[in-house]
Amino acid sequence: MSTITNLTRMWLTRSMKPFIFKSEYDQQLPFSECDNLGLYVHIPFCKSICNFCPYCKVRYLEEVYDRYIDALIQEIHLVGSQHIGKKKTTSLYFGGGTPALAADRLKEIISAIREHYVLTEGIGIELHPDNVVPSVLRILKEAGVTKISIGIQSFQKKFQTVLGRETVDISTLKEVLSQVSFETVSMDFIFALPMQTFDDLKADIDAAFQNGANHVAIYPFIDFTFTSSTVTTMPKKEKQALLDAVTRYCMDKGYHRSSIWTFSKDKQATYSSMTRDSFLGFGCSATTLLREQFKINTFSIEEYCKRVEEGNLPTALTIRFSLRQRMVYYLFWTAYSTKVDAKDFERFFGVPLKKMYGTELKIAEWLGFLVKENDVYSMTLKGAFYYHYYENFYTLAYIDKMWGILRKEAFPKKIEL
Ligand SMILES: C[S@@+](CC[C@H](N)C(=O)[O-])C[C@H]1O[C@@H](n2cnc3c(N)ncnc32)[C@H](O)[C@@H]1O
Ligand code: SF4
Repeated sequence: MSTITNLTRMWLTRSMKPFIFKSEYDQQLPFSECDNLGLYVHIPFCKSICNFCPYCKVRYLEEVYDRYIDALIQEIHLVGSQHIGKKKTTSLYFGGGTPALAADRLKEIISAIREHYVLTEGIGIELHPDNVVPSVLRILKEAGVTKISIGIQSFQKKFQTVLGRETVDISTLKEVLSQVSFETVSMDFIFALPMQTFDDLKADIDAAFQNGANHVAIYPFIDFTFTSSTVTTMPKKEKQALLDAVTRYCMDKGYHRSSIWTFSKDKQATYSSMTRDSFLGFGCSATTLLREQFKINTFSIEEYCKRVEEGNLPTALTIRFSLRQRMVYYLFWTAYSTKVDAKDFERFFGVPLKKMYGTELKIAEWLGFLVKENDVYSMTLKGAFYYHYYENFYTLAYIDKMWGILRKEAFPKKIEL
């Protein structure tokens, strides 16, 4: 598996050099020069822990929570005050964990953000189904949240049992969602669970759109090595057939495909913290992507708080990109939206996409992975599946390894991928 990712990396970056992440880090982050800058805030607390989940989180404890939110606000000011005036940004997303557990301090966090940044595209937050109650939704709305994403996983009891989660009551969900409105109401599902069929997924998608969602995300189940999940993974052929069938169904229904995994009833309904040229991440495990570097904060809540309380950034690792590495990174995440616009690439890098990756794009077109219309390369169904397949490799070869180490060591010296 890592042979494939290594060879692809060498080919596309035209270099034998691996991705090297080191513990030395910048205290001043050069984000002023970034256009289309997104913001992300990580809240690492959950009421109970799901054994399949790879994210950085712990069980909620009030004293840890309060200290963490204080440190988080301090980190926002530490970074934000490095820019004179208010920096224009796109959107702000809260992820976790279960960020609604911080509902009582959300206004405080958002006003710290607004002291340094202007948001042009709204605020999104991930919710556990337990958070979907009128009182919480009202607090979110009042704090300025415009998009919510609910972690349903499946409406069917048999799959919730496989995942160790409670069944979600659809009629209660619908009733509560009708009381407080949001621009985007997304529901996320996991696919490729044992014995899951197209009919199971179709029923979930239909139920979501009939009960208050205008956007759905259907994520493939990923078996991270460091989780204690006992869920068996689906064979490749079955998975491809399932993804193709779901995609065809959503396209036939006229839903808009806004990324590999997401479909919406109307184009305005969006929810994505991934497809941005650059972003700043706050909180433990949060990542930051700038023009020439990518950095990841420590996964240890204790060490995160200590570093910030000392007035330092909680960065665990930084990679300083070569130009080709940055291009690969750009293309990989832009492709997540199923489209790459050559004009945007040229605007970002100052060189034509064709000049840098003309041969690769021709091969991809020839293999039926891409179609080109004017300056935009769009993924075909086949291309989307192979992208998904490669992303799975990438996740297991790179993210799994890095998160596996960062869960054990607060500040590792170096990681090579
Ligand atoms: C942070 S959680 C969402 C909010 C809330 N904590 C919850 O669980 O409902 C983000 C989403 O990641 C997805 N997820 C977690 N572990 C996964 C895995 N191993 N494979 C694929 N998706 C996963 C789930 O769909 C989950 O809803
Ligand atoms: S899936 Fe959600 S609730 Fe479960 S442990 Fe992960 S973040 Fe927490």
